[in-house]
Amino acid sequence: AAVEYGLEAPFDVEFHDSIPSTNARARDLAGEGAADVAVLADEQTGGRGRLDRAWSSPSGGIWLSLLVRPDVPPAHAPAFTLAAAVAVTRAAREAGVDARIKWPNDVVVAGEDAESDDGERKLAGILTEMEGEADRVSWVVVGTGINANLEPAALPSEARPATLLDEVGAVDRRLFTQRVVEAFDELRADPESVIQAWKKHATTLGKRVRVDTPAGEVVGDAVDIEFPGTLVVDTGEERVQVTAGDCEHLRP
Ligand code: BTN
Repeated sequence: AAVEYGLEAPFDVEFHDSIPSTNARARDLAGEGAADVAVLADEQTGGRGRLDRAWSSPSGGIWLSLLVRPDVPPAHAPAFTLAAAVAVTRAAREAGVDARIKWPNDVVVAGEDAESDDGERKLAGILTEMEGEADRVSWVVVGTGINANLEPAALPSEARPATLLDEVGAVDRRLFTQRVVEAFDELRADPESVIQAWKKHATTLGKRVRVDTPAGEVVGDAVDIEFPGTLVVDTGEERVQVTAGDCEHLRP
């Protein structure tokens, strides 16, 4: 199937016309001991997003999961998620899209009002799953959903989707995927460099944010990001380090 897709990647490529979820397939491959595999599908029938949401994945998108086995503790895994966000953003920018990263790892296209996220639309999302011991991960699956050659109307409107087709016209999905995988491969070699690359394309830093974290809501100015992907929010009283949550950009 890899030959059929014709992707030259630093990963073994497995391509499916239709599959429930490339992440689920990559997890199965992890269980079989595989490493450095890219699972791709034209269509997913049971795509999953963050927070156990469904992820609409019709034919025409780029539905990609990368299985890696880095020698890092589980706490460093967010850096791989950020690396995928940077990789997609670079590929989208090369294709002429004004793509930016919204913390932690949504790739978005700014709306008319760049100061708030009014009108900000989502081009890609990333769902990372992993397994491991306390001191070292066994595997990490970085699942990346890119709304590529799709009409926005083909996707749920509540997801406020942006698509490559709508932004710049149809792309060569094979070449686009190749650029994403190559950039990810380069970034994973140096996880600490990911933060610098992420900052370059971030839309969240400098904005007023509300983050819905497992420990409650944090509202303030997003002032920095620290390895492996921690957002620093200045609430006016203190600087809070947020490691996970849903982030909303507020009007200043
Ligand atoms: C998000 O909620 O923003 C993350 C979406 C992740 C979707 C991708 S598509 C490829 C991979 N397979 C899945 O089932 N999910 C991820």
